[in-house]
Amino acid sequence: MSRIAAPIDTGAPALAFTHRFVPASATGLPPLLLLHGTGGDENDLLPLGRMLAPGAALLSPRGRVSEAGMPRFFRRLAEGVFDEQDVVRRAHELADFVAEARAAYGLPAPVAVGFSNGANIAAAVLMLRPEILAGAVLLRSMVPLASPPETVLPGTPVLMLSGAMDPIVPRENAARLADQLAARGARVEHRVLPAGHGLTPADMSAARQWLDLHGPAAA
Ligand code: MLT
Repeated sequence: MSRIAAPIDTGAPALAFTHRFVPASATGLPPLLLLHGTGGDENDLLPLGRMLAPGAALLSPRGRVSEAGMPRFFRRLAEGVFDEQDVVRRAHELADFVAEARAAYGLPAPVAVGFSNGANIAAAVLMLRPEILAGAVLLRSMVPLASPPETVLPGTPVLMLSGAMDPIVPRENAARLADQLAARGARVEHRVLPAGHGLTPADMSAARQWLDLHGPAAA
């Protein structure tokens, strides 16, 4: 990742989330909404976004919740135990930010690429505000809401990549999230990779291939 050129910032307007925006340098690609994991920030996933969809616009907000100084997208009570009221509130805040950013930057609906906590908030946005995302790549995600509303995700493409040895996300939990999304109409591809919670080259190539297939169609 270190060989990838630093993204060019256009100067971010004052929107509700601190964020980075990198304009598109190619046409026909949906923007990526990059959502970092616990302790990350708006800079973390820009190299990943560049690698997954070269030339796509990148919108990368910083989570507004602080856990002992570590940014997150919603509060948790313990590892894997989420404050669901906060999940709902923060998912709506993030959805509103995406709508604001689309107007400010003139963007079509983005495809979310989220890691860990960022993947979990993306899953919550999909189920609470299904019109906001054109698709999602959920890396090491788990169920953010035990009983999400019966919204409709009309064929929204979702790639879930889980780790077979992930110590944070039980296999059953990731499978339950895939079922929740599919039951609401999403076209879910769920793959379990020989990996832990961290990302591997297999994640990169699976996500890139999937975006090549689904990205332009989703724009
Ligand atoms: C979470 O949302 O808490 C994640 O699944 C785990 C983490 O971010 O550390």
